Amino acid sequence: MKKILAFSGSLRVGSYNQKLVKIAASAAEEAGAEVTFISLADYPMPLFDQDLEEKEGKPQKAKELKQLFKDHDALLIASPEYNSMITAALKNAIDWVSRADSEDEKPLSALAGKTAAIISASPGGYGGSRSLGFLRPFLENIKVAVLEAEFSLPKAHEAFAEDGSLLDAEKTAEVKAIARKLAEA
Ligand SMILES: Cc1cc2nc3c(=O)[nH]c(=O)nc-3n(C[C@H](O)[C@H](O)[C@H](O)COP(=O)(O)O)c2cc1C
Repeated sequence: MKKILAFSGSLRVGSYNQKLVKIAASAAEEAGAEVTFISLADYPMPLFDQDLEEKEGKPQKAKELKQLFKDHDALLIASPEYNSMITAALKNAIDWVSRADSEDEKPLSALAGKTAAIISASPGGYGGSRSLGFLRPFLENIKVAVLEAEFSLPKAHEAFAEDGSLLDAEKTAEVKAIARKLAEA
């Protein structure tokens, strides 16, 4: 059974990206994957600093997150867009996870060989799609294969029903199809 780690790059309570990735995560589960749904807000960690790493090693939360990455085959990531980019929280988390803990460990051991699906949501008209333009090569450069299909949700502030579902059936089908592809990849 494929094991998927699902999260967004947002730390915000009520995050649209967290809501979107939850919908995708359920679809991946329906397609037979085992999905672990997390919030990066539960993994607070300092800004990556090589001196701090040298002195103190990985912070506990970074260790836990790295182990989660290791325990899963695939990543389902919803990316908010900050100034056309991925968030600092997402970049920082992956920077910590990317680091080897000893000289015997291969670099990128928690990332290399995984598959990812990337999606985004934003109140803006582009739905955060510009962040995906950065997220894709970032992941590919650290040896994560990214599914060609991606999904962006514009006007996210008007897109969700009270129960967290999407109001638009076509968009629901689109985002679910990507999650299914990841489960079957
Ligand atoms: C620092 C900052 C920069 C932002 N830049 C963009 C941007 O470039 N494009 C965009 O569509 N939205 C931008 N936004 C608005 C976010 O899309 C919005 O805050 C969204 O709710 C963040 O995603 P979340 O709901 O998952 O936390 C920005 C927000 C912040 C705080």
